[in-house]
Amino acid sequence: MLKMNLQEHITSKQKKQVYVDQMFEKIAPVYDSFTVLFSYGMDRRWKRDLVNMLDLKGNERVLDLACGTGDITFALGERLNTGKAFGMDILQAMIDIAENKRKANNISNVEFCCADILNMPFEDSSFDHITCGYALRNVPDIELALNQISRVLKPGGRFLSLDFSHPGNKIYRWLYFNYLIVTGSLAGYLIHGDPDVYRYIPESLKLYPGQRNVQKMMDRQGFVDTGYREYGGGVMTINYGTKPL
Ligand SMILES: C[S@@+](CC[C@H](N)C(=O)[O-])C[C@H]1O[C@@H](n2cnc3c(N)ncnc32)[C@H](O)[C@@H]1O
Repeated sequence: MLKMNLQEHITSKQKKQVYVDQMFEKIAPVYDSFTVLFSYGMDRRWKRDLVNMLDLKGNERVLDLACGTGDITFALGERLNTGKAFGMDILQAMIDIAENKRKANNISNVEFCCADILNMPFEDSSFDHITCGYALRNVPDIELALNQISRVLKPGGRFLSLDFSHPGNKIYRWLYFNYLIVTGSLAGYLIHGDPDVYRYIPESLKLYPGQRNVQKMMDRQGFVDTGYREYGGGVMTINYGTKPL
């Protein structure tokens, strides 16, 4: 396969999704172990907090966007008795891994489907709540994604997004981005023979508007009670908001 240029693709609204898709296709088989290693195991806690923040009653329909191999979707399913968790991802390779886990564990209140966040095949106001982990940074148009999320969310429903973010302190931010460049490039080279595979993380993070601007975007899209919870001085963040009644 022809190697795509990282900068050329991720800076273009037209080309970014093509790059993101081929990269996650390559990563899919090692995604679970890489995520645990690269976050020193902290990813589990961030995802658990995200699910806890929903304060579920158990009867809701919850959509987990860009679900990947299904970590958040399954965690949601564990909290739902009569309700259901729906995992959606643009890549069939990710959905296949998630679906295999679902079958192996005989889980009946979780369902997966393949679709694009920017063009979701759901009716308006279909879900009580919506979550996503490491999704907004990867889509070519965040405003459009938030618009679509608001469309399929029920009035009163909450949206929560976990992602890498921008530490407020400039020196710390510079150190963090460079740490990600060095460790990401090394991991990409060692695991895939290609430093760009995980150098995508810091490069996409530089282009990502960050937690403060994502909150402003959510405000512009009509979400209320918006805010964010930061981890490690802003290296990771959960953005949240509610669709007004
Ligand atoms: C870093 S993984 C996150 C997986 C999972 N949410 C987690 O937290 O472990 C990002 C996922 O976003 C998916 N993705 C990227 N662009 C997408 C889009 N436009 N619509 C839906 N999924 C998308 C990728 O296929 C990939 O599985």
